[in-house]
Amino acid sequence: MNLRFLTAGESHGPELNIIIEGIPASLEINPEDINADLKRRQGGYGRGGRMKIEKDQVIFTGGMRLGKTIGGPLSVRIINNDYKNWDVAMSPVSQDLSNPEVVEKIQSKYVSRVRPGHADLVGALKYNHEDVRNVLERSSARETTSRVVVGAICKRLLKEFNVSVLSYVIRIGSVSIDLKSLGTNYSELFSKAEQSEVRCPDVKVSELMKEEITKARTLGDTLGGLIHIVASNVPPGLGSYTQWDKRLNGRIAGALMSVHTVKSVEVGLGKMVSEFFGSQVHDQIYIDEKWNNDRLRYKRKTNNAGGIEGGMSNGQPIVCTVATKPIPTLIKPLDSVDIKSKTNTQAHFERSDICVVPAAGVVLEAMLAYVLSNTFLEKFGSDSIEELTDNYNHYMKRCFAR
Ligand SMILES: Cc1cc2nc3c(=O)[nH]c(=O)nc-3n(C[C@H](O)[C@H](O)[C@H](O)COP(=O)(O)O)c2cc1C
Repeated sequence: MNLRFLTAGESHGPELNIIIEGIPASLEINPEDINADLKRRQGGYGRGGRMKIEKDQVIFTGGMRLGKTIGGPLSVRIINNDYKNWDVAMSPVSQDLSNPEVVEKIQSKYVSRVRPGHADLVGALKYNHEDVRNVLERSSARETTSRVVVGAICKRLLKEFNVSVLSYVIRIGSVSIDLKSLGTNYSELFSKAEQSEVRCPDVKVSELMKEEITKARTLGDTLGGLIHIVASNVPPGLGSYTQWDKRLNGRIAGALMSVHTVKSVEVGLGKMVSEFFGSQVHDQIYIDEKWNNDRLRYKRKTNNAGGIEGGMSNGQPIVCTVATKPIPTLIKPLDSVDIKSKTNTQAHFERSDICVVPAAGVVLEAMLAYVLSNTFLEKFGSDSIEELTDNYNHYMKRCFAR
């Protein structure tokens, strides 16, 4: 593993902290590029009040000098604006419990009515917490803000090699785009999706999706969906068939599955491969007659494999379809239990989103960019951008000549 990252911080704590190790020296990073992705994660029709309070911005505190990486770990902070409303209840240091006002502030944030679908119940059992606040603060998807920072830095690295990672929404609840007419012009689909409040490339379907979300809100309910995550211009040979844990599909699936609400990850045709003959599934190969040394000589008639064969990228776009569940905090709460009074009751409700599918796409882009950057650095070296570029160019020239 050449690249790794750790995140810390609670949803309503003072700040989020991120350490990323392994980004090569001399990569120019403009904080505004990262803030732009953070803004994308905060958006989307169906978000709750919290995102109106926050304006996520990165503060670099290590690993950078004069706008460029210098090879050491990058350290990044993001301030939680909402902390000012939680400074007593979420204080990292002890508070004066003889002061009734302090006690009242802490008690007002106490949670014992666990939410089905969240980490609440199992987290309280596992970490032996009475106050479920101790679970939900870290299990909250506020943590995905930090992942978007890592992903934006990785996207910046991949951009040096013209690799792009993007996403768009294809389903929210029962409303789906017609996949047959979607096509594979991914950059166009992405630009259209970026104009849509639900990040869907079809204007009419976007409106129907918004109506579906409004309906869910009226019913006190929530919605999940389906997202395409695509990486284009990926060089052949990232990942490997030589060990189980080097296989690119496994690494990508693990990273995407680690995102809150994700319940399935498919690559290429995904589970549909089970329905067809082999002759209909595998992507036949032919010689590109127009080849003139500037690209791979071998082309494919289709991309059912979703850009991965034998645990390696094959040079075709990597296409993943990810399903996310409806978020678990419901305005009209589900039946649950109070773990303090040991009674049947209804789940806790606290200010919440209705649908996070558009935002989840941005987080999934981040995780795909991270895995691709990691495998890229494994293949081509990770000390400096100059060395990485030389190694990449040399390898690609050799592949083109084959
Ligand atoms: C960007 C994003 C925002 C989310 N916001 C909320 C929210 O406001 N309320 C909520 O109950 N769940 C929200 N979730 C989902 C929960 O964090 C998640 O379902 C929960 O932590 C349980 O984890 P699991 O879905 O992986 O089982 C969000 C997820 C993402 C990706």
